[in-house]
Amino acid sequence: MPHSATVDLSGKVAVVTGSGRGLGLAYASALAAAGAAVVVNDIDEDIARKAADSLVEAGGRAVAEAVAVGTAEAADRLVDRAVSAFGRLDVLVTNAGILRDRVLWKMTDEDFDAVVATHLKGTFTCARAAAVRMREQGEGGRLILVGSPAGQRGNFGQTNYAAAKAGIAAMARTWSMELAKAGITVNAIVPVAATAMTETIPVFAPYVDAMRRGEPLPDALRKGEGFGTAEDCAALVPFLASDAARDVTGQCVGIGGDRLALWSHPQEVATAYAEGGWTPGTIAAAWHTSVGREPQSVGIPAPRLPETR
Ligand SMILES: NC(=O)c1ccc[n+]([C@@H]2O[C@H](COP(=O)([O-])OP(=O)(O)OC[C@H]3O[C@@H](n4cnc5c(N)ncnc54)[C@H](O)[C@@H]3O)[C@@H](O)[C@H]2O)c1
Repeated sequence: MPHSATVDLSGKVAVVTGSGRGLGLAYASALAAAGAAVVVNDIDEDIARKAADSLVEAGGRAVAEAVAVGTAEAADRLVDRAVSAFGRLDVLVTNAGILRDRVLWKMTDEDFDAVVATHLKGTFTCARAAAVRMREQGEGGRLILVGSPAGQRGNFGQTNYAAAKAGIAAMARTWSMELAKAGITVNAIVPVAATAMTETIPVFAPYVDAMRRGEPLPDALRKGEGFGTAEDCAALVPFLASDAARDVTGQCVGIGGDRLALWSHPQEVATAYAEGGWTPGTIAAAWHTSVGREPQSVGIPAPRLPETR
C-alpha cells in the first residue's frame, strides 16, 4: 500500500461545475470531506440542491448554485456565490459536461456547438473568472480542468467532444505558464469511471451492471483499463487542491479504478532535414524511411477484458 499524507483543505473554498451527480459529486464530496467549503453547480437545480444537502448532512459546508456553464455571466455567478457564501475562492473544478456523439458526416452544428459551449467555453469562462478573483486575492489558487482519453487520443464518433477535451488540455498547458507568477496551478485530470455518461458503453455495460449488484470489478478493469467508480477518481482533486501539490502544474493526470497515471504532452518524435528546405517530391521520396517510418497510433485502445457471464 502507498504511504498516506494528510490533505487538509480547511479554510479553502471550491467551486465544482456539474457536481449534482457523477464524477462532479464525487469531487465535491471529497473536497468537503477534506475541509473545503463547496459551491455545488449543476444545470439541474434539483440535483444541485440535493447534492449540496448531502454534503452538509455529511458534516461539510456547501451551497448550491444552479446555472448552465458556458457563458461569462454563469461564470461570474459561480465566483460571486463562492465569495458571498464563503468569502473567497481557492479552487475551481471545471467538470460540467455533455455528450452528443455522431460520426463527422452526421454531426450537426447544434451537436458541435452544444458540446463545445459546455466543455470548452464553459472551462474558459469559469477559469477566467476564477483567475481574476484569485489574482485579486493574491494568495494563489488551483484550477483543476477535466480532460478525457478521447481528447488525448481521439475517439470514433466524438468529433465535438474530442476537440473540446483536447482544447482543455491545451488550455491547461497555456494557463499553467500564464498563472505561475500568481501561484495558481493549472492541471487537467483525465478520469475514467462508471457514470451516467459511460455506463451505456457496450463493452463496460455488463461490468457496470455487476458493480451495481455489489460485485467487485475484476483487476482487468480496475488496473488494466483504469476503470472503476466515480469515487475512485475523487482523491486526485483534493490532492491537486492541496499544498502538497503546490509545484504540480501544467500536467494531464489520469485516474480510474486502481490506476493513477501521468499523460505525456504531444512532442516531435521523429525529425529529418533537407538542406535549403523540403519539396513535395523530396518528402514523398523520404517519408517511409524517415519521419513516417513509425506513424503514431490514434484512438483509445480497445479494452482487453475477460469473457463475461
Ligand atoms: N465518466 C467518464 O469515464 C469520463 C471520462 C472522461 C471524462 N469525463 C468527464 O468528466 C466530467 C463529468 O462526467 P460524468 O461522467 O460524471 O457525467 P455525468 O453526465 O454523470 O455528469 C455531468 C453533470 O454535468 C451537468 N451538466 C451538463 N451540462 C451542464 C452545464 N452547461 N452547466 C452545469 N452543469 C452541467 C449534468 O447535469 C450532470 O450532472 C465531464 O466533463 C466528462 O466529459 C468523464
